[in-house]
Amino acid sequence: TGYVTLDSGYKNTGATKSAITFLDGEEGILRYRGYPIEQLAEKSSFLEVAYLLIYGALPTEAQLKDFSSQITKHTLVHEDVRKIFDGFPSAAHPMAILSSLICALTAFYPESVSPDLSKEEIDLNVIRLMAKLPTIAAWTYKNQMGHPLNYPRNDMDYCSNFLHMMFSFPTEKYELNPVVVSALNKLLILHADHEQNCSTSTVRLVGSANASLYGSVSAGINALWGPLHGGANQEVVEMLEAIERDGGDTSKFIAKAKDKNDSFRLMGFGHRVYKNFDPRATIIKKAADEVLTALGLQDSPLLKIAKELEQAALTDEYFIQRKLYPNVDFYSGIIYKALGIPTEMFTVMFALGRLPGWIAQWKEMRENKEPIGRPRQIYVGEKERNYVPINERA
Ligand code: CMC
Repeated sequence: TGYVTLDSGYKNTGATKSAITFLDGEEGILRYRGYPIEQLAEKSSFLEVAYLLIYGALPTEAQLKDFSSQITKHTLVHEDVRKIFDGFPSAAHPMAILSSLICALTAFYPESVSPDLSKEEIDLNVIRLMAKLPTIAAWTYKNQMGHPLNYPRNDMDYCSNFLHMMFSFPTEKYELNPVVVSALNKLLILHADHEQNCSTSTVRLVGSANASLYGSVSAGINALWGPLHGGANQEVVEMLEAIERDGGDTSKFIAKAKDKNDSFRLMGFGHRVYKNFDPRATIIKKAADEVLTALGLQDSPLLKIAKELEQAALTDEYFIQRKLYPNVDFYSGIIYKALGIPTEMFTVMFALGRLPGWIAQWKEMRENKEPIGRPRQIYVGEKERNYVPINERA
């Protein structure tokens, strides 16, 4: 069967050629379609970045207007999707509902599973997914709270509409705070793509079997849910809260993270690719300071613990030697908490941000007609042996 090279975790294996995102882990560089993440986070909007990732160029004013209004037009989900919500227990994790319902879109749009979609049909699926995922995402939260679901508002921009669906009540108007809307835009931009990470590779691998966009993205959502991937931002805040409950002694937790007999890891530290710093973490740290100050939360105990932990880890030999730096999730959870997003929704927020990246990567893979992904293995099991009837087994 030929020679197989083992590369557990694909640390050195390139699975595809891609023109979407450039990442240099040594230098801490991240660019979408050539544009530095710092410029996009500062100057762009999430939908503009989504267009850039999916279609390869910054949109003209007319293109962006058309893209936005198409998305706005498709934000409603089929009323039967609402009925599915009723079947979920209210304690269900929002990611469980999100992945299930995104996959369920293949049932509502059965033509989406065809391997021979035209460019226009693919575009329609892209628009539907960009439009409906925020609605479903906000509803997962409302379902958990037992609150009435809010319908999307077509007079609002993407981020404002999401906040409205999350926080409005029939009895109470949700006052949009521009600081919150702008922070949300920034967070979503920072998460919008990250080349061949675990969930994106999942989307491409599933998609390489000619599976539908909705089915492939649903698989990506499940990959993202894992605590070593997108689940990390929830774990960061839970860790900070645990440190606070324990009296706030960060050195105790640093010692635990260094202890090889203890499985505890400092959540929000380390990255498979960034070995000097995570450029997203630099932007987000600044954003966290701005948002918390604007919301009057600059003295929050969690922020204090986070800063202490960061300082302690950055000056500790263990972390220096292993090149472990705060990653994007170290601060994103703190901002989400300040914006009023509950902890269990953090990974859903990550999914909302990563969606254009998943779409762009699925589309690129389709357009390049990539072969089905099928890694090899090195077999280490039993040699051939004969079947033993059950009554003769020891
Ligand atoms: N706390 C303590 N020790 C750590 C940590 C940590 N957070 N991360 C890595 N190490 C140690 C690890 O024990 C190993 O030590 P040794 O060489 O003595 O055995 C060494 O550093 C290398 O670790 P690794 O597990 O081989 O590194 P990796 O590249 O396979 O893992 C990682 C990367 C992100 C999974 C890992 O650093 C980690 O578990 N971090 C905490 C979870 C986290 O924050 N994840 C979010 C990643 S960023 C968002 C995203 O892109 O999804």
